[in-house]
Amino acid sequence: MKILVTGGAGYIGSHTCVELLEKGYEVVIIDNLYNASEKAVDRIKDIAGKDLVFYNADIRDYEKMNSIFSKEKPDTVIHFAGLKAVGESVAKPLEYYENNIAGTLNLCKAMRENCCKNIIFSSSATVYGDPAFIPITEECPKGVCTNPYGWTKHMLEQILTDLHTADEEWNVILLRYFNPIGAHKSGMIGEDPKGIPNNLLPYVAQVAIGKLPFVGVFGNDYDTPDGTGVRDYIHVVDLAKGHVKAIDKIKENPGVKVYNLGTGKGYSVLDVIKAFSKACGKELPYEIKARRPGDIATCYADATLAKKELNWEAEYGLEEMCEDSWRWQSMNPDGYR
Ligand code: NAD
Ligand code: WQD
Repeated sequence: MKILVTGGAGYIGSHTCVELLEKGYEVVIIDNLYNASEKAVDRIKDIAGKDLVFYNADIRDYEKMNSIFSKEKPDTVIHFAGLKAVGESVAKPLEYYENNIAGTLNLCKAMRENCCKNIIFSSSATVYGDPAFIPITEECPKGVCTNPYGWTKHMLEQILTDLHTADEEWNVILLRYFNPIGAHKSGMIGEDPKGIPNNLLPYVAQVAIGKLPFVGVFGNDYDTPDGTGVRDYIHVVDLAKGHVKAIDKIKENPGVKVYNLGTGKGYSVLDVIKAFSKACGKELPYEIKARRPGDIATCYADATLAKKELNWEAEYGLEEMCEDSWRWQSMNPDGYR
């Protein structure tokens, strides 16, 4: 069975490609390398000890997409490609809507043209906005997003659902990720942000390696046990395995399905700093700063639906997430550069 992975050279995509190859799937990656390195593609092959097909191509290029689909004839698409920096999306809404929404429409047109109507989509817990209840089940109403990035996920979920409404041959699995962190056990692939990281884990990792002086903690006056924000951090390899389970599900022609991929446990910013300090063997300095606009206090999943219907649950805890993230960071202080 052949799986086409858009954004497969990126952080979550690269880990997913390893799991797919190890399960015996044929893999075709499309990535324009906007936020990735071709070295990641080589390392996926090295870890899995198997080959794959890589196209340096942009999902917005219809002619190119059509020619790739007609040549490769994949059974299913896992669609990771997209821009994901929340703050940048506020400053560049047109670029975000263009890349994420127009790109996905284009991809789906090429899929339809070539009779590939199975898609697994990278959505996000961000679609719940400030969640109506915690832990968050898939029944929780979608909320008001605070930035264009979040709206692209919100809208693309609707667009993909409408595709199935119009044509029941489409199978759509919307995976809502919580906070992916960690790296492959080999230390060969991991998250490689450009410039100063926006997200907590890569920031903490760069403090640990000495590139940044201290972690700024965005607020300690939230209504949480220690006052800092609480999130559901999930190991990227667990997340990758969730995609393999979603392929098993899509083979059943399920129509539209939505699953939270999280651990069901919430950890605070201070919990993370403590766990990472233990992993890297030194106390990491931090300073309390003002709240970051748009942040919510608490966000963690109820992941029982994925367990019931996908036979998937996260295995790794925060300790391993930090150990693996530290291994990647210390083996590759400059990422793929
Ligand atoms: P990433 O930036 O590492 O990976 C995305 C990949 O898509 C990159 O390799 C990039 O080069 C590629 N890409 C972007 N635009 C493209 C285009 N027009 N054509 C071809 N390739 C293109 O990000 P990631 O963390 O691996 O995230 C993967 C997906 O999961 C994204 O859709 C993201 O929004 C979503 N997601 C991520 C998180 C997270 O915290 N990392 C959480 C929830 C959802
Ligand atoms: C986690 C916690 C911060 C950085 C984002 C997106 C979301 C999804 C995952 C894509 C919060 C605090 C952070 C720092 C800090 N991505 N923090 N100092 O905001 O939960 O989710 O990534 O879909 O859509 O919004 O993740 O890692 O930025 O923050 O104190 O330097 O760490 O306030 O409580 P977030 P994050």
